[in-house]
Amino acid sequence: MNIAFLSPTSFRLYDETAPKSACVLDQKALSGGVIGEDQSVYANGLLHVQLNQDNLVILYRGKEVFSAAPFSEEGEGIDHSLAEKEGHAHEQGRFEGGGMKIRSVRPVYGLGERSGPLEKRGYDYIDWNTDDPSAHVDTFKSLYQSIPFFILFDGDDSVGIFLDNTAKVHFDFNKSNPEEVRISYVSGKPDYYFFVGTMKDIIAEFTRLSGRNPLCPYWALGAQQSRWSYPSKEKVDEVVRRYRENDLPLSVVYLDIDYMDAYKDFTVDPKKFPNIREWLSEKREEGIVVVPIIDAGVKAEPGYFLYDEGIQDGYFSTLNGEVYHNEVWPGDSVFPAFLDERVQRWWAAHIASFLELGFGGIWNDMNEPASFRGPLPLDVEMGNGVKHDTAHNVYGHFMVKAGAMGFELAGKRLFQLTRAGYAGTCRYSGTWAGDNQSIWDHLRLSLPQLMNMSLSGQAYIGVDIGGFGGDTTPELAAKWAIASLLNPLYRNHSALGTKDQEPYTFTGVYLETYRKALKLRYRLRPAIYTEL
Ligand code: NOJ
Repeated sequence: MNIAFLSPTSFRLYDETAPKSACVLDQKALSGGVIGEDQSVYANGLLHVQLNQDNLVILYRGKEVFSAAPFSEEGEGIDHSLAEKEGHAHEQGRFEGGGMKIRSVRPVYGLGERSGPLEKRGYDYIDWNTDDPSAHVDTFKSLYQSIPFFILFDGDDSVGIFLDNTAKVHFDFNKSNPEEVRISYVSGKPDYYFFVGTMKDIIAEFTRLSGRNPLCPYWALGAQQSRWSYPSKEKVDEVVRRYRENDLPLSVVYLDIDYMDAYKDFTVDPKKFPNIREWLSEKREEGIVVVPIIDAGVKAEPGYFLYDEGIQDGYFSTLNGEVYHNEVWPGDSVFPAFLDERVQRWWAAHIASFLELGFGGIWNDMNEPASFRGPLPLDVEMGNGVKHDTAHNVYGHFMVKAGAMGFELAGKRLFQLTRAGYAGTCRYSGTWAGDNQSIWDHLRLSLPQLMNMSLSGQAYIGVDIGGFGGDTTPELAAKWAIASLLNPLYRNHSALGTKDQEPYTFTGVYLETYRKALKLRYRLRPAIYTEL
């Protein structure tokens, strides 16, 4: 094991064979070295770190703020198959790769996008990016993103812990033992970062290392409207017109999957959206930015340029040396090996030419990656020889990294949304918290969820206003528009087959309320921009 002090209040504790980080780009240490048999106390700045085989103790300005012992979790040995037959999911993972148990009764915050309350004691969570469209409830262990960073809160003596491990990780926050926080991972080498001080200092230092959202374009703080899907340019024109006619401000419209030709990435159906270049420039002149969706799964169809290029150059994920197939929107699909830098450059070039048509941003979806014919096997190779078991949680991260490279190539200001992500994904993309539902409980959920994402380093975040799945009501949508006023991403979006929920579909007090919310949002915009 090695220790490296990164600042007067932070250090890294790691095995030197730990893989290269997906997010920490600068690991320059102030001081440190190999932990020897003959030494047990390491000091720098305000920290003293005491280490031996069975214990790690951190003293901050002379006071003990952290104490932990090694830990690994064995399976419970219980057969869950009967419960599973009735549809009760159970996480069968064995987290025997290593970990630590921390003596703590302090409030716990962080871990990014989760369901459940803001303060996380009493719950356990798993890092495994998951697309589950059923209603997200407090007991969900995983959602679309995995940010293995949390804070044990104790005023000025709080401690932040970042476990830079992309495999499946289990966090047990005082659930199995009310006096312990337990972290355990399926595989990988120890690679921990510790940050001490106030919550604000901890988040500042964590994001300095792992990455921060660059400032979004100003238009990205305006009102945004989406739906799965506006089927034609005429429909989008109508949406913009009805916003205007009803005195509702609007800055951005999204195109969901149906703008494509047969759900093929980087294509536009010429029947539904003819003369796309001219139309996009028309929209720009009307003050509307158009953002298309791009999916991780690529249609497996000989003759489709993206598929042919990827096959020819070996850019898709493989299983036992053969290109791996599963199913997503286009039917039979293959998955770019995004962990390979060559694949990132290839994808970036396509993003750049797509942007050059006049799109203002990219909405990255289904990048957990989601699949319809069962999950991808754990030994699918996703680039650089990295297998799905450790690539999974960073697959979306590298997809949007490639996307960001595309913006650079095109010389355009970065604007992306992503569903999946890892620590530091915010360097490349904002996040919307996936498929919520049009229920009051999900309006309530959005507040702790977004706050925890923010406490985990993400700044440009939001949820689908009005709710995605299910039919909203005018009252729910209008109140959602108010409750979201300070969310950086302010987007109304709804699923295929649900009732329309654009604000102009409402009448009376609800239309009036939604309008007031939008107008207030535009007045708050300079302040939100400054805060970001
Ligand atoms: C899943 C996304 O979460 C949702 O926002 C989108 O509308 C659908 N995919 C269809 O593209």
